[in-house]
Parts: sequence; structure tokens; C-alpha cells
Amino acid sequence: MDLLKEKIVAEGKVLSDTVLKVDAFLNHQIDPVFMQEIGKEFANRFRDKNITKILTLESSGIAPATMAGLELDVPVIFARKRQSLTLTNNLLTADVYSFTKQTTSKISVSHDFIQADDRVLVIDDFLANGQAALGLMDIAEQAEATVAGIGIVIEKGFQEGGQALRDKGVKVESLAIIDSLENKQVVFKEEVRQ
Ligand code: G4P
Ligand code: NA
Ligand code: NA
Repeated sequence: MDLLKEKIVAEGKVLSDTVLKVDAFLNHQIDPVFMQEIGKEFANRFRDKNITKILTLESSGIAPATMAGLELDVPVIFARKRQSLTLTNNLLTADVYSFTKQTTSKISVSHDFIQADDRVLVIDDFLANGQAALGLMDIAEQAEATVAGIGIVIEKGFQEGGQALRDKGVKVESLAIIDSLENKQVVFKEEVRQ
């Protein structure tokens, strides 16, 4: 997605060989008009998948997931990372390990909002090692729903997640794939559209 790549080049900051800061439009400040374009792009890529629910993880997944939900006209559910006062019954949970933080966190979704007949599109802002997306898939599978696709805003192609998810045989669409962040330069992977 050219608009996204332009935005990354113009507003992103390469913090290290492995970390890209995009607080200006994705992880802190949100550009709603741009985010709507992200939603349209996800919708176009998954329109033939008969999606009935979108599943994401708080907090940075919520904006792109909501815009995709608006376009596909389906509900958006965000997994919680912290225990909720009111969300206590009927919980589906998964453990998500962060390689960066070297911590495991429990994410949870109420079974009330995902059923066996759902076709779920998992959306997240970043794909690094894939643990968050795998946790969301796990939750959908616990509900016996079908994971019909995974949509990622920015994939770091030099980390393991993309391979791990594609090995599961699910359609993964990343709107920008970064090959390298070395020398403070963002190098994108050549786009090959199926
Ligand atoms: P990891 O094992 O490589 O750390 O991956 P993990 O999926 O655990 O990522 C931890 C957090 O860091 C996630 O956000 C993820 O989206 C984010 N992240 C991973 N790589 C990058 C990167 O290069 N740039 C940016 N900006 N973020 C990255 P989170 O803790 O869930 O936070 P939230 O923003 O969703 O609240
Ligand atoms: Na994030
Ligand atoms: Na995230």
C-alpha cells in the first residue's frame, strides 16, 4: 500500500535495526482519514472471505480494526491485556509471550462475542514474532470459529512472525512489509499481490 509506505518514510523514525517508531499515525497519535484508507485496504483484501467478526488486541490494533469493521460492516472485538472489572465470565484466554519484553501476558475475550459459526479476521498493527496474532488465532479456535484471514498494518519481514502465520495456511495480508531497518533506512519488500 503506497500511501502507507509514504507515511512510514515521512513520519516514521527508525529507532534501531529492529524497531520502527510510528507514534505519529499508528501507536499514539491517530490520523483518522489515513486510518480509514487502511480500513478500506483491509476490506478490499478480505472482501471475498465472508468475514463476520474482526478480532484485534488492545490498544494499537483497535483503530485499524475498527476502520476495517466499518468497511466490512461487521463487529470489532478487542482482546484485553489486563483484567477487566466487568469482563469476568465466559472468558477465552491465551498466553502471549513477548520476546522483546521477555514477559508472558494473558489476553482475554468473552465467548459471548465469538461463536462457532463466525469467520474471524484477525487484525493487528505490527507483526514481529507473531505471538500476539497466534494468541488471537488460539482464542478464535477455542470458540470453534474459523480464522478466515490475518491483516497486519506493518510486518517486519526480517522477524519470524510472517513465516509462522503463513505456515498455518491462513491468508496473511500485510499492508507494508519491511525487509530491513539497518543504517536507519526503511527498506520495503517488493509487493507481490496474489
Ligand atoms: P516481540 O516479541 O517482538 O516484542 O513482539 P510483540 O508482539 O510482543 O510486541 C510487543 C509490542 O511491541 C506490541 O505492542 C507490538 O505491536 C510492538 N512492536 C513490535 N515491534 C515493533 C516495532 O518495530 N515498532 C513499533 N512501533 N511497535 C512494535 P503492544 O505492547 O501490544 O502495544 P500497543 O501499542 O498495542 O498498546
Ligand atoms: Na503496538
Ligand atoms: Na499491537
